[in-house]
Amino acid sequence: MSSSITRLLFVDDEGPIRRLFRRGVDQDESVLLETASDGKEALRKLKTFHADIVIADMKMPEMGGLSLLEEIRIRYPDIFVVILTAYGSIEDAVKVMKAGAYDYILKPFDFDVIRMVIEKITGQKRILEKSIFPGKERRKGYRFENIIGQDPKMFEIFQKIIDVADTNATVLITGESGTGKELIDEAIHFRSPRRSEPLIKVNCAAITETLINSELFGHEKGAFTGATAQKRGHFELADRGTIFLDEIGDIPLRTQISLLRVLESKTFQRVGGTKTLKVDTRIICATNKDLSDAVKEKLFREDLFYRINVVPIHMPPLRERKSDISLLANHFLRKYCTETKKNILGISRAATNILYRYDWLGNVRELSNIIENAVIFCKGRELIPANLPEEMRKTTQKKGFTLVLSSRSLPLAEATMIHKVLEETSWNLKQAAKELDIARGTLYSKMKKYGIEKL
Ligand SMILES: Nc1ncnc2c1ncn2[C@@H]1O[C@H](COP(=O)(O)OP(=O)(O)OP(=O)(O)O)[C@@H](O)[C@H]1O
Ligand SMILES: [Mg+2]
Repeated sequence: MSSSITRLLFVDDEGPIRRLFRRGVDQDESVLLETASDGKEALRKLKTFHADIVIADMKMPEMGGLSLLEEIRIRYPDIFVVILTAYGSIEDAVKVMKAGAYDYILKPFDFDVIRMVIEKITGQKRILEKSIFPGKERRKGYRFENIIGQDPKMFEIFQKIIDVADTNATVLITGESGTGKELIDEAIHFRSPRRSEPLIKVNCAAITETLINSELFGHEKGAFTGATAQKRGHFELADRGTIFLDEIGDIPLRTQISLLRVLESKTFQRVGGTKTLKVDTRIICATNKDLSDAVKEKLFREDLFYRINVVPIHMPPLRERKSDISLLANHFLRKYCTETKKNILGISRAATNILYRYDWLGNVRELSNIIENAVIFCKGRELIPANLPEEMRKTTQKKGFTLVLSSRSLPLAEATMIHKVLEETSWNLKQAAKELDIARGTLYSKMKKYGIEKL
């Protein structure tokens, strides 16, 4: 199967470095290497060479790494792009991560680092290829079940899903609204041995306090006014399957006690009933609230919190996984084009830039809505800034970028923070220093050290 081979395009203008690189991976039969001497040649080669990974130098005379990254993002959003940046130029590293690179490697590079990055990416690819819902859209496979993502943070989550699916462990999925918590729930259920049994979803926030116990646990005839017949609750319906308790943070304290009992003994009683019923139900919970805060405020029982927080899965907000933006935007573009029978070929560079700069407080759901809207109003062959909401164009113009790094480099984090505050204060050093809580002289020397300057 071709999947065991990683197709790698290495781009550097210096011949000796290309040869060095070739020697470095020559022993490795799992890598099929192609090289190019600049961004333009790389793009030409990509037309016929279907690369999984592109590793490109930042500085090249004819089309450097950053422009190449931008082109790839538009034309081949599912390629993993890694950029080589000069040692000491933190600013370049910041730039490429902002632009949605998968990772960066410092130059002169160490082959062990290159190998590690390749292994990490191929490991991730392998996970995706095991996806049980391949679907015809999967192409080169950068989706896991229905979840799209190639950011390292998403792969950690995919791996967790694989590990936890086979067990009966209770899972608590947290994350901002629109980050895909429900998709995670589905992926766990459909990968578990319970997949052919029911998956019952309950939105705890949508049920009134008086009804929730009866909804969850059922009731006996005559249990309360209106209970004209016996009714089975969601837990009974989910027997042998999975119950998804969405917005778990919203369940009233009274119900929390009953829930605790189900978690501890798998038993419960119907409302108004005396018989103890036993179920074999796997519980997955989700919330966009901070439950430990709710515990502190005594709105959520601490014992219940520990019972459900056995395997926590935290969904990162979209702005913390920039390398997924193109992939998702293009996925939604295809989806809504199919629905509306339009033939839009892609998203223009300017529009893509706006998508990258935006904060996405509504996360993937917001991105999906915005692309759906843009598709409706788009008259041409590609989406352009005019198809995006005006508000969005304005805020991204003013604010520059927000960036959260996946890398754990402390200097890079410091440089990023400095850069961010400078942009927010329109490069007013006095104000920026104040916000960063350092002396102006310190700010100045740090800017010099990291090569941070107004572009
Ligand atoms: N990684 C992803 N790939 C594809 N679609 C996604 C992804 N993440 C989210 N979506 C889509 O975005 C929308 C929102 O996702 P979902 O309903 O799972 O969010 P949520 O975290 O449960 O939000 P809320 O807290 O508001 O309930 C859905 O239409 C979902 O299909
Ligand atoms: Mg949800």
